[in-house]
Amino acid sequence: MKRIFSGIQPTGEIHLGNYVGAIRNWVELTKDYDCIFCVVDYHAITVEYPTDEFKKRVIETALILIACGLTPDKCKVFVQSNVREHTELTWIFNCVTPIGELERMTQFKDKSKQHRANINMGLMDYPVLQAADILIYKAGFVPVGEDQVQHVELCREVARKFNSRFGELFPEPKALLSIAPKILGVDGAAKMSKTLGNYIGLLEDEKSMWDKLRTAVTDVNRVRRTDKGNPELCNIFTIHKAFSENQTLLNVDRGCRTADIGCIDCKKLLFTNLKSELGPIRERAFSLMKDTDYVIDVVRKGASDCSAIAQSTMTEVRSALGLFT
Ligand code: TRP
Repeated sequence: MKRIFSGIQPTGEIHLGNYVGAIRNWVELTKDYDCIFCVVDYHAITVEYPTDEFKKRVIETALILIACGLTPDKCKVFVQSNVREHTELTWIFNCVTPIGELERMTQFKDKSKQHRANINMGLMDYPVLQAADILIYKAGFVPVGEDQVQHVELCREVARKFNSRFGELFPEPKALLSIAPKILGVDGAAKMSKTLGNYIGLLEDEKSMWDKLRTAVTDVNRVRRTDKGNPELCNIFTIHKAFSENQTLLNVDRGCRTADIGCIDCKKLLFTNLKSELGPIRERAFSLMKDTDYVIDVVRKGASDCSAIAQSTMTEVRSALGLFT
C-alpha cells in the first residue's frame, strides 16, 4: 500500500479552515493509503512561541486529529521531536540542498518579513526538515494545501540530489492537492488563520461560533436584506459547500440571487449543518480532554512505530554515505 505523510503545526486551536482543507481529507485518505500524520513541533519553534504552553498545544493538536477520526486503527499519529531521526536526516539533506533554492521559497520570504527581529537558520532550513519528515518514511504522496506545493517540489529536488550523489534511495513524492474550496476567515478577506484571528475554532463553544458566523462578512455588495446577492462572491457560501448537501446549496444559491432569503437565514442553515457534522467530533474531543493519557498513549505508540521505520531508513542512509557505524 502506498504511503502518505503529512504534518500539522501545533497551533493548539484548530479551525474550520484546517478541518476542511486538511484533516477531513486525511481521514478519507486513510481508507486507501498507509498514512502517517505528524504534529510538527520542531517546525513551530522557528518563530517565537510560549514555551510554557507548548506541550499543551502539541497534545491538543494530536487530540483534535484523533477526535476528527485519525484513530490508531486507521493511521499513525505522532509528535515530530519524538522521532529523533528527522533532525538527523535534516543535517545530511542540508549537505545536498543549494542555499539558493531555500532563499527563494515564498514562505521563507514571507516569514522573514513577519519576523524581522529573528530571521534564523531554522526558518530557512524549514523546508529541508519537511523533506526529511517525508523522505524518512519514503512516502509517495503528501496531502497539502496550495501553499505547501513549493516545499514538496523542494523535497523532490532533495531526493534527486541525494540519489544522484549517494545512490537511489528515496522516491520523489507527489503533492496531493485537496479539492476542498479554500475557506476565508470571518473577515471574508484573508485565508482563515489562527494568527490573523479571523477564524472559527473547531472546539469553540456554540454561542461564540454563532456570534462569529452571524457577523461574518458575506457578499459585500449585498448591503440591504432586499439586495440580490452573488453566492460566488460570498465566503459563507464557500463554507456551505463544505458542509451542506447539494439540494441546500441549490436553494441557498437561488434564494440569495433572488433575495428570497437573507444572509442570516443562510447562516442559520449553515450553522445547523456545521453543528451536525462537528457535533460528534466535539463530543469525542471533550471526552478525550478528560482522558489525555489516552492521547499520550496514542502518540507514544505512533512514535515508536515510526521510529522503527525511520531507523531502518537511517541505516541505509549511513551505509550510502560511507559513515563509520
Ligand atoms: N509545512 C507544513 C505546513 O505548514 C507542515 C509540515 C511539516 C508538513 N512537515 C510536513 C506537511 C511534511 C507535509 C509534509 O502546513
